[in-house]
Amino acid sequence: MADDYKALIKGMMGKKRFIHSCNVADMCVRLAEIFGEDREKAYIAGILHDCRKEADADTQKREMMSAGYYIDPAELASKSTWHGIAAAYYVRHELGIEDRDICDAIRYHTVAHAAMTKLEKIVYLADLVSAERDYPDVEKYRAYALKDLDDGMYRALKWSIGNLSADDKKIPVCTVEAFNYYMDKRKKKGD
Ligand SMILES: [Fe+2]
Ligand SMILES: [Fe+2]
Repeated sequence: MADDYKALIKGMMGKKRFIHSCNVADMCVRLAEIFGEDREKAYIAGILHDCRKEADADTQKREMMSAGYYIDPAELASKSTWHGIAAAYYVRHELGIEDRDICDAIRYHTVAHAAMTKLEKIVYLADLVSAERDYPDVEKYRAYALKDLDDGMYRALKWSIGNLSADDKKIPVCTVEAFNYYMDKRKKKGD
């Protein structure tokens, strides 16, 4: 099954994004092994997370609006976030994947939310620290993720919100709620 999805996405995207998707899936499996999540679910969510990124904008929008999720105005305003919601629609309705956790992990991989499931955190963080990522400090963020998923989320959200605000981009409410949630969780752990 997992190999079928790998072959499927190969025909849906360019080489660079295919390599990224494979690396995210591999990182998802690595995190699943460390933190006790189902390896196959992690692989499937990882390999499919960007499967609609290269669909045209109209298709992404149509699938997004049919997905049955609440969509924040900041997401509607930012085309780069549409593919996650469109992909959640696609995997459920076109591929027949009924597993809610897999669909939600794909839906929230760009924006996060408070109190995420283990699989959701794994996909969000794997996307950020997959093997081909080469932004400054990626090794630092990779180490945070491999050590503690909640601390990894806190660090990643802080970084992401900083980047969004620096670029005058709107921040979805669920992303702010995620930051508040993981900041509180970190403080509680430190007490
Ligand atoms: Fe993505
Ligand atoms: Fe991605």
